[in-house]
Amino acid sequence: MHDLMNVKNAEIIEVIDEAPALKTFVLKPIEPITFLPGQFVLVSRLGIGESAFAISSDPLKTDTISISVQAVGKHTDSLHELDPGDIVSLRGPYGNAFPINEWRGKNILIAGGGIGIAPLRPVIYSLLSNISDYASVTVVCGARSPELIPYKGELEEWEDSMSVYTTVDNMDENWIGKVGVVPKVIEEIGISPENAIAVICGPPVMIRFGKEALAGLGFTFDQIYTTLEMKMKCGVGICGRCNIDHRYICRDGPVFRMDTIGEY
Ligand SMILES: Cc1cc2nc3c(=O)[nH]c(=O)nc-3n(C[C@H](O)[C@H](O)[C@H](O)COP(=O)(O)OP(=O)(O)OC[C@H]3O[C@@H](n4cnc5c(N)ncnc54)[C@H](O)[C@@H]3O)c2cc1C
Ligand code: FES
Repeated sequence: MHDLMNVKNAEIIEVIDEAPALKTFVLKPIEPITFLPGQFVLVSRLGIGESAFAISSDPLKTDTISISVQAVGKHTDSLHELDPGDIVSLRGPYGNAFPINEWRGKNILIAGGGIGIAPLRPVIYSLLSNISDYASVTVVCGARSPELIPYKGELEEWEDSMSVYTTVDNMDENWIGKVGVVPKVIEEIGISPENAIAVICGPPVMIRFGKEALAGLGFTFDQIYTTLEMKMKCGVGICGRCNIDHRYICRDGPVFRMDTIGEY
């Protein structure tokens, strides 16, 4: 059983403006936190609220963790007001993780839309740290427009070790990446399902059409992973707020293999 009262303070040591309304916060908890790719934390500001955020940093770094926060409401707006030196509280890490070690030797496709790339960034870091263990790694990162693409500098660095495709729904005159939604780019790239694993994360509509695009290429649903989001309260399987069927996203997820979640 998780200790709900195990709340740690963490100092914000860096705030990175990724895109309009999207900031990455580098947090230094009072004690190091180890986590696995796919896990999340619950971050709170006293008297304002508490929200779940995927940990978006490198799992090999334990003295700091990063969360990438899209400002969409009261609590996330208030987090966006914070600066280096400010303190937040956090619980976790919670949830399960991507079974990356089972993927050794395979061709891996990682596809994220918008903030959906955040929980996939630790996966990418983990693959990068043992890149020769994988047959190939392909990353597709999509956003509505060029300025909304997060982690731009890193995407360029990752190109040295893996195939990286960035895509936008609406291009501007400087855009040199692809144009179109992530599922369309998945179809265009045409990755073979042979010895392959795909991971897709983003808005529900992207997951649904991404799954269809992969099925069209011959992927079976047991080759596809995703992470799910739902409003959370306790984060540890007690309050019943985040159920899909008999399971709770916070406790049994947020990572699910597609063949285990039906028609999500
Ligand atoms: C496991 C998990 C990981 C997450 N990772 C991230 C992340 O890496 N970065 C990030 O920016 N956000 C992430 N979220 C979503 C984040 O928790 C919510 O956006 C946040 O709680 C909103 O709080 P608020 O008070 O600012 O907005 P509210 O006023 O509570 O909500 C604003 C709007 O967002 C909707 N909303 C709120 N929470 C969710 C949710 N969980 N799923 C779908 N819609 C929601 C509401 O229905 C409303 O329309 C994650 C959620 C979960 C469950
Ligand atoms: S948030 Fe309480 S059961 Fe998942």
